Amino acid sequence: MENQRNLYKDLESILYTRQQLAQAVRELGERITRDYQGKRPVLLCILKGASVFFSDLIREIDLPLEVEFIAVSSYGASTKSSGEVRLVKDLDRSILGRDVIIVEDIVDSGMTLNYIKNLLISRGAASLRIAALLDKPARRVAPLSVDYSCFLIPDAFVVGYGLDYNEVYRNLPDIGVLSPSVYGES
Ligand code: IMP
Ligand code: MG
Repeated sequence: MENQRNLYKDLESILYTRQQLAQAVRELGERITRDYQGKRPVLLCILKGASVFFSDLIREIDLPLEVEFIAVSSYGASTKSSGEVRLVKDLDRSILGRDVIIVEDIVDSGMTLNYIKNLLISRGAASLRIAALLDKPARRVAPLSVDYSCFLIPDAFVVGYGLDYNEVYRNLPDIGVLSPSVYGES
């Protein structure tokens, strides 16, 4: 953490180191490789938060996969979901009849993934699974089953490895709990 002193000083603690993340992503990639043998899945990255996890994960999957990107927004400069999901960037191609794996950074209330899942069902995906790096079940409101997740986390606001607060901290290589003083709750 020597190289990013300014970002790390805003963290209360480190939850997962880059080594722990790499190991978990490798295991998930192996699992998906086994589960999708003989298939050509579409890995769908939910921008922007999942981008770091996504780029590591696809390189741990030994299948002829395709990538797609979608962007939604629900948060703004807040640590709580607004509950309103907006499609900011749509898919470029049809996913009709395709096996889709949605790749998300974190599932919190579940509203974002619920929205995306319904959208993809309406577009005729043959199968749909969710791969989330982090699962924060404490605040779930939408009924949602996460098919693949790397870590179950407590109800804390975390940043790094793609996850942001107000668009900052995505480039931290580790995941940490953001000090509440940064968002004015202490
Ligand atoms: P949900 O719709 O409440 O499940 O929220 C999902 C989105 O909220 C994720 O894609 C994240 O972008 C964001 N989010 C939820 N919890 C956190 C967190 O602890 N840190 C950073 N972003 C979060
Ligand atoms: Mg986000």
